[in-house]
Amino acid sequence: MSICWLNGDLLPVENAKISVMDHGLLYGDGVFEGIRFYHQQAFRLQTHLKRLFDSARAIQLDIPYSLSQLEKAVDDIIQASSDEAGYLRLIVTRGVGPLGINPEQCAAGSVIIIAASSSFVSERVLNEGARLIIATTRRISPDCLDPRIKSLNYLNHILARQEANAVKADEAILLNSRGHVTEGSTDNIFIVKNHCLLTPPVTDGALEGVTRGVILELAEKLGLAHRIQTLSPYDLYNADECFLTGTAMELIPVNEIDGRRLKHCPGEMFNTLSMAFKNQIDQETLAPELKRASS
Ligand SMILES: Cc1ncc(COP(=O)(O)O)c(C=O)c1O
Repeated sequence: MSICWLNGDLLPVENAKISVMDHGLLYGDGVFEGIRFYHQQAFRLQTHLKRLFDSARAIQLDIPYSLSQLEKAVDDIIQASSDEAGYLRLIVTRGVGPLGINPEQCAAGSVIIIAASSSFVSERVLNEGARLIIATTRRISPDCLDPRIKSLNYLNHILARQEANAVKADEAILLNSRGHVTEGSTDNIFIVKNHCLLTPPVTDGALEGVTRGVILELAEKLGLAHRIQTLSPYDLYNADECFLTGTAMELIPVNEIDGRRLKHCPGEMFNTLSMAFKNQIDQETLAPELKRASS
């Protein structure tokens, strides 16, 4: 049974309802986070909640709960779910208001946390790697909407994903209005070239992904050469390795981009970082007594 935390109550997901007049539904006016838990512990919860509060502040949305109340809500839903590991979707809507986009008369927003199972990626993609296309749909330019705002409005990402679906690819990469690589429809992108790990800067139009941050941290810790750098489709086509990162999918190797097969899938850098990522998760989420038993 899937469960939901809705404004303080834990309910079966089928019984969790919000109004049709909520501006989150009417206009995509709201913010959200996708959070994973492992060993019944949320991973990088502070980073996710900070991004949530920063996104809300950027769109002048008051979250009707404090940081510590949301931490407790996340903990409560994890304990209530019967799963050892899973995925949470935390949403804050603008709230109920009259028709019309003006949020001025909206009541307090709803806070929703949905617990879901954690399988987002097919075995085929995990084993063989993902096939990517570069979408014709562009990412909304960072001078129009700051890409750090994780809002409920994903329409151009959805259009890009439909382009991938139309040619039976697994994911679409969005470029910005200048033709530079930004990210996938729900993930960040990394390439490896000449043993150096590269990912585009957030200022080119990528979400500041939590998983992206962990990978950059691990690269630093392991002494792997890495750089944040503007990338073009040419860089992707000529990469030695490529992989995607995101909370839902974790790390996914890429085997093909617009019909060009990459040299290595999974590559050496992917394997190293993938193992380090798993270890990091265990280190941060395993209870101390279990950590001792598994080492
Ligand atoms: C557009 C976009 N980019 C990147 C990501 C990956 O971010 P994170 O690692 O924080 O999940 C997401 C995740 O939802 C996303 O929606």
